[in-house]
Parts: sequence; C-alpha cells; structure tokens
Amino acid sequence: MRAGSTEPAAPPSASPPAPEVAGGDGACALGLGLRVPHLPHVLAEWPDVAWFEIISEDFIDSGGYPRHALARIAERYPIVMHGVSLSIGGTDPLDLGYLTRLQRLADATGARWVSDHVCWTGVTGVTTGELLPVPFTEHSLRHIAGRVRHVQDLLERPLVLENLGTCAAFAHSTMTEWEFLARLCEDTGCELLLDVTNVYVSSVNHDFDPEEYIRALPHGRVAQVHLAGHTDMGDHLIGTHDGPVAGPVWDLYELVTSLTGPVPTLLEWHDDLPPLSGLLDELHKARHHLGAHQTGTRETGTGEIAAHGTGTREIEARDD
Ligand SMILES: [Fe+2]
Repeated sequence: MRAGSTEPAAPPSASPPAPEVAGGDGACALGLGLRVPHLPHVLAEWPDVAWFEIISEDFIDSGGYPRHALARIAERYPIVMHGVSLSIGGTDPLDLGYLTRLQRLADATGARWVSDHVCWTGVTGVTTGELLPVPFTEHSLRHIAGRVRHVQDLLERPLVLENLGTCAAFAHSTMTEWEFLARLCEDTGCELLLDVTNVYVSSVNHDFDPEEYIRALPHGRVAQVHLAGHTDMGDHLIGTHDGPVAGPVWDLYELVTSLTGPVPTLLEWHDDLPPLSGLLDELHKARHHLGAHQTGTRETGTGEIAAHGTGTREIEARDD
C-alpha cells in the first residue's frame, strides 16, 4: 500500500490485486503517462508501475468516466500532474481560472507535484497549440521567475518545470539553457523535470554537448525525469514521443542518474500509442541502465513523493 496513506480501496472483484507499491530504501521509481485509452486496462490490471503522470488538460475540465477512473487510480497510485497550458514564459497575464482548476485537480488527485514547461504558448489571447522556446536572457529570467513565484504562491507548492526539445533558438540569448534553468531554480525554488530526450534533441539541433548541459544542472533540483522517443528528420531531430527511447538517450540517462541519485523516471509516449504492455516493456528497460549507485534514498526539494513514502522504490540492480 502507499505508505503515508490509508489502506487503498479493495480492487474490483473481477480484477487481480493491485501490485504492492510500497517504497523501500531503493531508487528510481518508474512511472508511466496515464493515457485515456488505457484507463480500462489500468483499472482491470493494476499494472506494475510506481506512479502515474497525467496530462492535466486531459482531466481538468472532464467529468464522467475519465474522472471516475482517475479517482480510482489515484486511490492506488501516486499521481503527478503535467500541464501544457501554463505559458510561464508568455507575456499575457497568467490565467487565474486555469490555475484555480489546476489546483482543484491537484487536490482531488492528491498530486505529488504539478509540472509544466519553460515555454510560451501564445500571445494576446491567441494560443498556438505549441510549446515555444524562450530567450535565455536576464530580462526573460526576471520575467519568468516572477511568474513562477506567483504560480507557486497560488498553487501552494513548488512548480516543476521541464526543458523543451527545440529546433529554433533566440539569437540574442546571453546565457546557455542550462545556466538559465539553474538560475531559475535558484531564484524561485522551483524544480526541474529533466527531459533527457529533449536535452539530446536540442544538443543535436543546436550543436552543444549534452553532457555539459546535464553536468551543469543543479542535480538536487531534478524532481523528475522524462524519457521518450524521437525522430531523425535528416537535418534535425524532433521529440515525437511516438517510439522507443534511443541508445544515446539511455546513455545520457545513466549519466543523469549517476549525478542526481534516485529520481522518479517516466516514459512519455503520446502518439502511435501501443498497448499498455508495450509501454511497460519500454519503461522497464530503465532498470538495465541503472547501476548500484542508484540505491539509497533521495529527496528533492518538493519531497512530495518521498514525503508520502512512495517516491523511492526498490529497483533491481543492473543485471546485464
Ligand atoms: Fe517531456
């Protein structure tokens, strides 16, 4: 059962018992993105994952079956929320209605943390539907840091922000992305969702050393890791989230975990969605990329999963 919580609800009589998800003294908790088409399967099988990440916008305005299913899943697994609408780098006023609904969903699901991206999504009320890169300048840093503090005050919890994988960058940036992220954490107390695939994609597209990026981050501020597939377009890469994780990304993941220690790790897969069993097979490959140095307890500044006794999981020692 989830330590720090009440005994979970009994599983449906027709379903097998849910796996034990109690934390041990071990390391990286492996989580999966909860996709709406998989809800019936999750409720029937209670798969062997440590936690689920939901796309906030999939549930924030929904009712009926999706919210009913999410409520049942949240009784049995830790949930974290990942959004795409915050536009923390935008110049439009923060959408207070959206933040209120986000807070309600976080309360309803007991979300361990709320994340979004270091990006902007539109201007003058027009939404592009894209996560767009921000300039890495002192002005941009002050602007975003102020909005991060505002959001954290409203949500009453640290905000976790993800690095984008980009094909374009602002020519007038005055610092590297990793310097920008480190200073944003320092200035606001926010945490990082380190998307390792996005680091790799951007490193190829912008010709920087992904290891330098990873080594320079404030490792104690990495609350979560994303792993995903990407597509080679010939002259650039795109993080398409529609396939298995590539070899160079696994290599960088090994570097990340050697520096961060145990860190909740999530497989992202949005398009060309395979059956749930396929996602689990890909997710569990992470175990083969973790060494003995991954054992031991790690707490991030959010401490949310750890505080609930569910952020650290025993994970098999490397067996290859
Ligand atoms: Fe991601």
